[in-house]
Amino acid sequence: MSDERLTPRSMLITGASSGFGLLAARLALARGWRVAAAARRPIPLDPSADLLPLGLDVTDGAAVSRAVQEVIEIFGTLDAVVNNAGMANFGTAEEVPMEALRREIETNFFGAVAVTRAVLPHMRARHSGHLVFVSSDWGRTGIPGFSGYCASKHALEGWAESLYHEVRPFGIGVILIEPGAFDTGFTSAPAAAALDPSSPYAALYHAIGQGFDEEGQTPTGEPVAEAILRAASGEDPRLRVAVGADAMEWSSARFKDSEQEFIRTLARKYGWDQPGAGSRELKNRSTNL
Ligand SMILES: NC(=O)c1ccc[n+]([C@@H]2O[C@H](COP(=O)([O-])OP(=O)(O)OC[C@H]3O[C@@H](n4cnc5c(N)ncnc54)[C@H](OP(=O)(O)O)[C@@H]3O)[C@@H](O)[C@H]2O)c1
Repeated sequence: MSDERLTPRSMLITGASSGFGLLAARLALARGWRVAAAARRPIPLDPSADLLPLGLDVTDGAAVSRAVQEVIEIFGTLDAVVNNAGMANFGTAEEVPMEALRREIETNFFGAVAVTRAVLPHMRARHSGHLVFVSSDWGRTGIPGFSGYCASKHALEGWAESLYHEVRPFGIGVILIEPGAFDTGFTSAPAAAALDPSSPYAALYHAIGQGFDEEGQTPTGEPVAEAILRAASGEDPRLRVAVGADAMEWSSARFKDSEQEFIRTLARKYGWDQPGAGSRELKNRSTNL
């Protein structure tokens, strides 16, 4: 066996303090990877020789470059990067404050771009590596109340698909994971207007909240962690990997049906096409994606 095969593989995961990122970090450690787990909050994992916890805000470009260099120095190599850090606002395209929208795009899109660009020279030089992007089934669909989130994930999808072609000749794989709804505790920050009964969109906010509340129990995130690990290990040759029954259904409907049919079906299913029903005061709620 070559020395290379004896060396444990190493992975950097952003957004590893909770949800999919934490589950993926745990799974990777259990499977013998060395894991650099990055987030702003502390990483709730037991210290071990294979774990490198990193305090990192992905919107801080200089900190991203430093963190990637540190991981490469300490681990010697970086075989996979999982761009998972993300957040969401809740509010219509007109009402979400620009600053909140910029923060969302900075985190979900530019954060992943910065991490990826920092690691690419290393992966190109080694002629190997896997870049995994945790997108969403909303990365190919526009959802009312979540235009900024959808925009950030659409941007990620387009950027990663272009990257796929650019880095394939260097032996680097690019994979987009598109989860449906999973119960990770992921919540959206409601804009003030989304809680204001006098908003012209009050009835729509209500309909959106109700539509998702009626969805029922969402599964826990283990299948997404499993899909991340397969992608990071080079075991999944697809560019896009939909995870979860809802994501698979949306993904196939999106391409099987005509676009108008798909859009109308969604609006009917979630009640977005009948927003006149009730503009009663909205509770101070966070919508679980
Ligand atoms: N849950 C779902 O149903 C669902 C569906 C589709 C896609 N997704 C995507 O899955 C990814 C993970 O979300 P999750 O569901 O696991 O929710 P989560 O538990 O809220 O995880 C989000 C992670 O992102 C990190 N994060 C947020 N802003 C950051 C920043 N500026 N710098 C560094 N880290 C940051 C958070 O850590 P800190 O706050 O400690 O920094 C946290 O660890 C996100 O990209 C989300 O869009 C989720």
